[in-house]
This record gives sequence, C-alpha cells and structure tokens, in this order.
Amino acid sequence: MNKLLVSLLLTLGVTGVANAAGNTVGDAAAGQAKTAVCGACHNPDGNSLAPNFPKLAGQGEKYLEKQLHDIKSGKRTVLEMTGMLAAFEDQDLADIAAYFASQKGSVGAADPALVKRGEALFRGGDLQKGLPACTGCHAPNGAGIAAAGFPHLGGQHATYVAKQLTNFREGERTNDGDAQTMRTIASKLSNKDIEALSSYIQGLH
Ligand code: HEC
Ligand code: HEC
Repeated sequence: MNKLLVSLLLTLGVTGVANAAGNTVGDAAAGQAKTAVCGACHNPDGNSLAPNFPKLAGQGEKYLEKQLHDIKSGKRTVLEMTGMLAAFEDQDLADIAAYFASQKGSVGAADPALVKRGEALFRGGDLQKGLPACTGCHAPNGAGIAAAGFPHLGGQHATYVAKQLTNFREGERTNDGDAQTMRTIASKLSNKDIEALSSYIQGLH
C-alpha cells in the first residue's frame, strides 16, 4: 500500500501534485533574498547549528510552505518567530520554502546505544501498541514524501525532533490536520521511545 502510494506520487510528479493542490509556485532565487533574518537561527543555508532550531535545508517545499502559513497564522506557535512572517505575502512564503527546499541538508550522528531501539520502532512500529512504522510516510531513509507534504526527517536535530514528538503527544502542537495523524502516533510513544527515535533520526540518511 505504502509502496503503491510512493510510486503513484512519483508517477504524478512533484509539481503536478503541488499544482493540482493549488499551491503557489515558489522561486528559490527570489526566496533567498527574503531569508536574511532567518539565518541567525536556521543558518543562511538552512542547516541550523543549534539543536533546538530545526534544519530547513532539503526539507520538502510543500511541507515548509504549510509550516510557514501555520506559524504566520498562529496555528502553530513558535515564540522565537513572533511577528517575523507578518509582512510576507503567500508568494513570499512560497519563495522562501522553495529556497530552503533547494539546499542540501546535512546529517548528524545517532547515539550507538539507542540505534537498535530507534531503528526497530522507525522501521517496524509496535504492533502491540498499534504504532505504525514511521517509514510508511517518512520513507525508510527519512526523506519523507515531498509531494504529499510528509516531512523529511533524516539528519534533523534530535533535540528538535524529541520536542516535536512530545508536543504532538501533549497536544501542544496541533497543526497535523483533522486526522490528527501525528498526535495519535505520538500518544503511543513513551519518553524512552521518543529518545531512541529522535537519536536514530538524527543519524538517518
Ligand atoms: C530567533 C530564532 C529564529 C529565527 C530568527 C527564525 N526562526 Fe524559524 N524556528 C525557530 C524555532 C525555535 C523553531 C522551532 C520551534 C519548535 O520547537 O516548534 C522554528 C521553526 C521553523 C520552521 C518549521 C520547521 C519544521 O521542520 O517544521 C520553519 C519552516 C521556519 N522556522 C522558518 C523560518 C524562516 C523562513 C525564518 C525567517 C523569516 C525563521 N524561521 C526565523 C527559530 C527561529
Ligand atoms: C500516516 C503518515 C505518518 C506516519 C505513519 C508518521 N508520520 Fe510523522 N508526520 C506526518 C505528517 C503528515 C507530518 C506533518 C504534520 C504537519 O503538517 O504539521 C508529520 C510530522 C512529523 C514530525 C515533525 C517534523 C518537523 O520537522 O517538525 C516528526 C518529528 C514526525 N512526524 C515523526 C514521526 C515518527 C517518529 C513516526 C513513527 C513513530 C511518524 N512520524 C509516523 C505523517 C506521518
């Protein structure tokens, strides 16, 4: 089923899907000029160096654009970015998303002691808990499915990933749609599961 979904999306083509969804088409070169203020935290190329600031480089364009709209509207709370997107129009947000999506993402390292548990959960889920494998939507190498808006996770800072999974679990991040996909999944994760998954994801590529 998931393999079918992936090949279907690949056949349709990334832009075809994005356009069918009515997304604004972004211009990466125009976007770069609008990201001067972002570099302080996310680094100019989007490979943030601080573990609590997410890497944006190589992230899917559709996912980035959605997050920018959600942060701007307050649907997703990012206190550090308060007011920063207020002056940007839809076209600006699309351009910024295109710019960071076009950058090459860097990879970190996993804690060897946590890899086994992290990998088992990421690839196999947990049948007893009703936890699906992460690979179905985020792909075995963590690349996500850009056209579907399923985010790229591979190489992301473990500290940031752990905070997002905790926030989904505690209902502090609620912008995962009416289906509440990530809130439901995270509700099945223990703190130890989150620690292992986050470390594994940081080294995944
Ligand atoms: C003062 C630091 C700071 C600045 C400056 C900043 N951000 Fe952020 N940004 C953050 C933090 C912190 C988060 C994650 C918050 C959380 O934990 O949910 C974030 C999250 C994001 C996300 C969501 C990433 C994801 O994987 O879901 C995007 C997209 C983003 N920022 C884009 C931008 C853009 C574009 C700019 C410039 C216009 C910018 N940020 C400026 C701190 C900053
Ligand atoms: C059915 C599809 C699906 C499955 C399975 C799934 N995810 Fe997700 N995940 C999503 C979607 C969609 C989003 C983006 C939500 C949004 O738009 O804010 C997301 C977002 C995330 C984020 C936030 C990324 C960021 O940059 O802020 C993390 C972390 C994450 N997922 C981890 C996981 C882990 C770990 C698993 C396995 C235990 C998993 N996901 C399983 C669909 C899925």
